[in-house]
Amino acid sequence: MLIAPSILSADFGNLARDVRAICDGGCDLVHVDVMDGHFVPNLTIGPVVVSSVAKIASKPLDIHLMVENNSFFVDLFAPLKPKYISFHIEEEKHPHRLIQKIRGLDISPAIVLNPHTPPEAIEFLLEDVDMVLLMSVNPGFGGQKFIPSVLEKIKRLKALIEIKNPNCLIEIDGGISDKNIESLKEAGADVVVAGSFVYNNPNGINSAIESLKI
Ligand code: DX5
Ligand code: ZN
Repeated sequence: MLIAPSILSADFGNLARDVRAICDGGCDLVHVDVMDGHFVPNLTIGPVVVSSVAKIASKPLDIHLMVENNSFFVDLFAPLKPKYISFHIEEEKHPHRLIQKIRGLDISPAIVLNPHTPPEAIEFLLEDVDMVLLMSVNPGFGGQKFIPSVLEKIKRLKALIEIKNPNCLIEIDGGISDKNIESLKEAGADVVVAGSFVYNNPNGINSAIESLKI
């Protein structure tokens, strides 16, 4: 299992320290939640702050766009050379075109599905993406409760991926902890995002990351 801690739960007054902590603690990706206050009812960080994160991070960036006007935000973040940029299928009229644009910038394209969106909605995009992110909470905030129906969705998505693009990874985001990690692995998840579990863990960041690596 690859681990992508979300810096949304970091202490933004000590962001450099908290980015170093997850990288030194053995994470695989640094998950960056970009919210615009329109697609989701919250507002986070833009390229000015994320460029500082990129300088400090010793692991690749995984940028999760929760915005309107995806293409504009892809242009803003592309110069930071993230490994992944993911966008929500619910907010994109021309997903295939956007995937080609992201790929053309030498970034791995990924698509995100909200809890209500069936995996079949992206069946004909699977061969063009490197990862699908399934939301296991409603996007917008850290620290929410895991929605268990994502487990069935992972299995259905996995079956489609095996036919269309076996190299495509499945990432799960929201409410993840050592309590549900086994069921996620069993269902077929490859990457998990974890914010509050990693940053607010009483046993510390290193131990939290280690406990998800199964
Ligand atoms: C929610 C974000 C998540 C969030 C995860 O919109 O996409 O990445 O930070 O936080 P936890 O792990 O606390 O649910
Ligand atoms: Zn996220």
